[in-house]
Order: sequence, then C-alpha cells, then structure tokens
Amino acid sequence: MKPITLSINETRQRREDFLRRIGGGIAIFPAAPTAIRNSDVEHEYRQDTDFYYLTGFEEPNAVAVLAPDHPEHRFVLFVQPKDREREVWTGWRAGDEGAKRDYGADAAFTMDKLDEELPKLAEKANRIYYRFGSDPAFDERLVGLMRRFQRQRQREGTGPTSVIDPAELLHEMRLIKTPQEIELLRRAIDITCEGHLAAIQALKPGAYEYEIEAAIGYAFRKNGSPRCGYASIVGAGANATVLHYTVNNCRIEDGDLLLIDAGAEFGYYTGDVTRTLPAGGRFTEDQAVLYQLVLDAQLAAIEAIRPGASFVEPHDIAVRILTEGMVRLGLLEGDVEKLIEDGNKFQNQPDAPAGYKKFYLHRTSHWLGMDVHDAGPYKVADEWRRLVPGMVMTVEPGLYISEDAEGVDPRYRGIGIRIEDDVLVTELGNEVLSARVPKSIEEIERIVGKSRNGA
Ligand code: GLY
Ligand code: MN
Ligand code: MN
Repeated sequence: MKPITLSINETRQRREDFLRRIGGGIAIFPAAPTAIRNSDVEHEYRQDTDFYYLTGFEEPNAVAVLAPDHPEHRFVLFVQPKDREREVWTGWRAGDEGAKRDYGADAAFTMDKLDEELPKLAEKANRIYYRFGSDPAFDERLVGLMRRFQRQRQREGTGPTSVIDPAELLHEMRLIKTPQEIELLRRAIDITCEGHLAAIQALKPGAYEYEIEAAIGYAFRKNGSPRCGYASIVGAGANATVLHYTVNNCRIEDGDLLLIDAGAEFGYYTGDVTRTLPAGGRFTEDQAVLYQLVLDAQLAAIEAIRPGASFVEPHDIAVRILTEGMVRLGLLEGDVEKLIEDGNKFQNQPDAPAGYKKFYLHRTSHWLGMDVHDAGPYKVADEWRRLVPGMVMTVEPGLYISEDAEGVDPRYRGIGIRIEDDVLVTELGNEVLSARVPKSIEEIERIVGKSRNGA
C-alpha cells in the first residue's frame, strides 16, 4: 500500500481556519497527559485528538497556543527539551527547533518557559479558548493564569476576561472531513476490512475468541495500523448480547454466532465495523431470520443517507423495520407505533427498557473520524443535524436477546446480532467505505472458515 501521511499543509490549513474563527481570542491546547500504569510503566500514549488535529504533533508534555492577533507568533508550541539521556530511554524528541522546522510553529519554547511566555501571548486577547475537564493539573494552571489576568486587567485595562470551550468551533470543523481526511479514513477502514476478512478465514468451532481477536490485530498491524481505534469486541453465543463485551476469552462453539466489532486506527482516524458470523459456516434457521431482519434494517438505513437528510432518519427507518420484524416474529407484542413511541420515550430513563428498546438499546449511528465516536453536534438548536457531503457516520442496527430474556421463545434466546458499516455522505448520496467485508447470508456462508484462495 502506498504510504500516506498527514501533510504539514493540511494542519496549517486547519489552523488557519480555526484562527479565523477565534479572532480576538487565544486558544490553548495541552497535549494529552501521560498515565502511569504501575511503577515506572506508562499506559500506551496517544495524543489528544484536538491537539493532534491542529498540530500533527505526537509527543506528550506539550502545549499548543493559537493567537490570531499576535503580530508574529500565531502558532506557538511548547515542547519537551532535547535531552540525549532521556531520548536514549524514551525515543527521539523534536525539541523547540524541530517544532518550528517540522511542524510549522512560528515560535517554539521548551515547557519550562510556559508560565513566562503564555501571559505575553495572551495579554492582548479578550478571551481564552480552553477546554476544562481533560487534564486537572493543567486546569489548575489555567485558573492561576486567569487570576493573573484579573490583576492585569485592573492595572492596564487589557487581557482576557472569559474562558470559552473551543469545542463548538473546532468540532464543527472536525465533523466535515476534508479530502485528505477522507483519504486517511479510507485507509483506516481498508485496514479494518483486512482485519475482518482475516477473522472470517480464521473462524472455526473450537477456536477461542481471543484467537480471532489476535488474527484481527495481526492484520491491522501488518497493514500499518499502530493501534485499534477502540477495544475489539469478539463475542460468541450469548456474549454477543453484551454490548461492550471485551473480555474475549471464551471458546467458540459450533452453532454459535460470533459478533466481531473491531476498527483499526491509521493516521489518527479509525474504522468501526461489525460483522456477525456463524462459527460453523451456516446460520441456523432462527439465526438467519433474525440476521436478515437486521440486515434489511441496515440496508434501508444506509439508503436514507444523502445530503439534506436528517441525522436521525436512518435510525428511525432501522427502528421501524426492526420493530415490525420483532412483532412479526413474536418477540414483541402490540402496536408497532406504540412500541416505537415507548422505546423512544425510554431514552435515558432508569426503568427497564420498554418497546423496541427491549432488544435494541443503542442508536443506529454516530459520527466517525479521528475518534470512534467522533466530535460534532448531533443537534443544533434542538433540531437534528442535516447531513452534508464530507460527514462520515456508522450505520449499525442490532438485536440483542439475552439468555434469560423473559417471555421470549427459547429459540431466540442468547442471540446477539449487529451489522455495522462506515458511510461517507457524498454529493449524490453516500458511499459505504467498508463494503469490502461481506454481509449477505449467502456470501458469509460461502467464505467463513475458508482461506482466500479457496482452500
Ligand atoms: N465500536 C463502538 C461502536 O460501535 O460504537
Ligand atoms: Mn459504532
Ligand atoms: Mn462498532
């Protein structure tokens, strides 16, 4: 595969766009804090997504400042100093020179200069853009800075008076993907598909869920993905009815369905794909009926994705098809409209799930991008968002019938099914970016457990 990387031009354009939006203010983005796992071992580090979106810089212990009205230094990076001894242990550092040379910073300082330099950059700004809540230590630092500005304001009559969450502006940008973002996302989803195809081949009764997880992980890494976009879900039989099952330690039995929800990250973008497969290569009649119902709901929901449609339209379509099907199969009783209404009402309520929500608890879609549940509002002024080209969303209806589901024909108990694809909104409608992984019953039955050269 040809290498693709985030270009320095792309991050510059993102910053220019963001700088225009915050004119008069100054934005401060700390890098993601590191987290100790135990003793002197740290959890794997991944840069904060907003920070990376604007800088392309992956090192910890850094702060990015965007100051649109500063005469020379509109983009400033504070970074870890070059340190030969530390670099022997933890790897190469860009240092302040590298931050300017390789990341386009107008000025760069080492982190020990932050308290001295930040007030100078902010003194003419009338507001600060900063997101509280991700890094308590830095939050406190910012409060200290604001105290300083309060005193300065009294003395000089200048300086910021308010702190605003930058997410509203920045996440609006992240919601609509540029051509380069779509290229990176395509690659992440392509690698994700490779992982699912590897899982389809590796699947056989008697294998353990973690073996399938490993086959997926190997395909991801082999194709250049540095990490998963989220913990892989590989659940056999009734484990597939647990929405966030990630233990992945059970034996897969003949007759089980195996639900695999896994996504590879690439260039800080992630795929998010789910397939549900019969371990022995054939769906039972009951499994097939439920599977086809979920697939019908998914195909109809995807069909509704086009510019101008509302974000919730695919969900409403999927819910209707699933609910009608569940009534037809005797899983639910009553009037379809009422079951939909009761399910929708149940949203965020503590009582037992009602209506269709008894067997379909989550929404059909979320935005997809650098984060698996990507940034960007779903509603604006209480109205569902209208889709526009460049948005990317998942479509992932499912049915989850627990082993002990009351009042359910035993033949349907312990079945969990989800089918999830990643869909780009285009000028003409949509494109399913994860279409390479089969999902029809016939295709799945043809290839499960078979190597790709047909052996
Ligand atoms: N893999 C997480 C999700 O489907 O939303
Ligand atoms: Mn998803
Ligand atoms: Mn998923």
